[in-house]
Amino acid sequence: MGELTVIRGAATALESVDGHDLRKTFGHFPSGVVAVCAQIGGKPHGLVVSTFVPVSLDPPLVSICVQYSSETWPRLEQASLIGLSLLGSEQEEAARNLSSRSGDRFRNVDLHTGDGNAAFIGGASAWLEASVYEQVPAGDHAVVLLRVHRLSTHPDTEPLVFHRSAFRAFGAPDSRHIAS
Ligand SMILES: Cc1cc2nc3c(=O)[nH]c(=O)nc-3n(C[C@H](O)[C@H](O)[C@H](O)COP(=O)(O)O)c2cc1C
Repeated sequence: MGELTVIRGAATALESVDGHDLRKTFGHFPSGVVAVCAQIGGKPHGLVVSTFVPVSLDPPLVSICVQYSSETWPRLEQASLIGLSLLGSEQEEAARNLSSRSGDRFRNVDLHTGDGNAAFIGGASAWLEASVYEQVPAGDHAVVLLRVHRLSTHPDTEPLVFHRSAFRAFGAPDSRHIAS
């Protein structure tokens, strides 16, 4: 049996953990990067999330976590169908643009439309067309469960990975940091 080591000295006490510490620590968990997009009133709207999680096969459910301060989610949640694009390793610029606070989020983005209002990003490794199934309040975020209706995959496309505030590609020793 392994020895139990108390991390007393190196650990930050829970009561003093702030948002910056939490964000940094959560960032040690690598994730994919997913664009969540829909056409509303004839215009595309979207954001990117790193909180995509496959949840259930029957019914087919995935989840994302969306911060309550988001200005885009209140628009997206009105869409009958939302497009989820699992971004590929070549899509760092698209990920930056789609999460930017200023400018056209869809600049230099190859946009495709699906059924209903769903919108997808070209060059992604997979597309999921989904509708909002349930939203569960969770602190300053909502856990949004989405029911998947249609799928499309591009198995030759490597995923874009987000890890410790940097976009990375699988197996790439170098990574490009973004401002925190
Ligand atoms: C790599 C990356 C991952 C992100 N993940 C999330 C996420 O999981 N949930 C979320 O609410 N926002 C996330 N964001 C921020 C959103 O993409 C967006 O910038 C934010 O919602 C503010 O824009 P809005 O007010 O138009 O929604 C992420 C941004 C980046 C760059």
